[in-house]
Amino acid sequence: MHSTPIQLEDAHGAHNYHPVPVMVSHGEGAWVSDDDGHRYLDFLAAYSALNFGHRHPDLVAAAKAQLDRITLTSRAFHHDQLGPFCAELSTLTGKDMVLPMNSGAEGVETALKLARRWGYEVKGVPDGRATVIVMDDNFHGRTISIVSFSGDHVAKAHYGPYTPGFVSVPYGDAQALAAAIDETTVAVLIEPVQGEAGVILPPDGYLSEVRRLCVEHNVLMVADEIQSGLGRTGWTFGCDHDGVSPDIYILGKALGGGIVPLSCVAANRDVLGVLTPGSHGSTFGGNPLAVAVGREVVRLMETGEPQRRARELEAPLRAGLEPLVGHGLQAVRVRGLWAGVDLDPALGTGRDLCEALARRGVLAKDTHGSTIRISPPLTISEDDLSWGLDRLAKSIADLFGGAPRPNAVVEQHRM
Ligand SMILES: Cc1ncc(COP(=O)(O)O)c(C=O)c1O
Repeated sequence: MHSTPIQLEDAHGAHNYHPVPVMVSHGEGAWVSDDDGHRYLDFLAAYSALNFGHRHPDLVAAAKAQLDRITLTSRAFHHDQLGPFCAELSTLTGKDMVLPMNSGAEGVETALKLARRWGYEVKGVPDGRATVIVMDDNFHGRTISIVSFSGDHVAKAHYGPYTPGFVSVPYGDAQALAAAIDETTVAVLIEPVQGEAGVILPPDGYLSEVRRLCVEHNVLMVADEIQSGLGRTGWTFGCDHDGVSPDIYILGKALGGGIVPLSCVAANRDVLGVLTPGSHGSTFGGNPLAVAVGREVVRLMETGEPQRRARELEAPLRAGLEPLVGHGLQAVRVRGLWAGVDLDPALGTGRDLCEALARRGVLAKDTHGSTIRISPPLTISEDDLSWGLDRLAKSIADLFGGAPRPNAVVEQHRM
């Protein structure tokens, strides 16, 4: 008998994800569809990697043009896209230099290596003693070092021995941070908004206080803007909300336009200049195809349009969510076009809500427990956003109606 793609995935793919049972085969803008013509509004946007929507014409054109020229040189040779990309991203970030990598986790690893090396060579911390302060409930990726300072048991268990040199403090608590800094501290690693934790917003002024403490103690402020950056919060970077520029930006996800993996760190010369040939690298990092798309992403960001859209759509997003608090939702947190939504656990898990949403033609993904995140492409129309929020209200009502029906399609949307 012929196996379906999902059966093949089950049989031969590692089970490290638990996808919502929807088979996406086509995408355009804020919408995706399956082979049977069912349409779904994308309220996840690949965890913000699709800030510009599916197959943005300018990004696809940049990728196609580069595919016809050259795709990979390795960093053993020069190519003509890297220099312009670095210069353009350096203007966008306001930093002197840029180091491109591929995945977000690699970007974070790069920043950690950079901070340690800066600590030894510039700050004068005795070799091997550097510490980095991280935040409770952080999410920075999946490498051994990164899961070493994760508080998420599932992400961390059975991957030891763990990398030492990290101290964790409560997110949003400037006093706890101040108390944790000592002469071995080289960096504070922080998400300007904790995305994976459920779109947790720090108190206003907290990021400025982190910035101030880092200056006072000669510690690098490292902002992981992989999810919060590139327009999502209504600003170019999440740190802009507090008017703060960190010492190191880490970017990823949307930097690759939803087409290629592309991450990077950006910092001034006194920090990024500590790296020397051979001391760090990646075969695919900064490859011509990725940075050609990245250049187009930077150009889109320079127009200010993605930031403006996220700012404008914040009000309708709030207006759709806040009335649901007390009517199935326990809490909502919104910044820009980004929301964390806590379902009343008595009604079900975040997974139950995501399955109910999928049956009504909207894709979203749960995070811990009964929380889901909403992060549609920034290109979504206000009408589509309202339609999706209406479907969310109806999906919550479905959960009030009793146990969700796992595979029933309540409502289908034909192309
Ligand atoms: C804030 C943050 N940092 C790092 C990562 C890891 O990125 P990647 O999955 O590309 O390694 C993520 C992914 O969700 C993230 O949200």
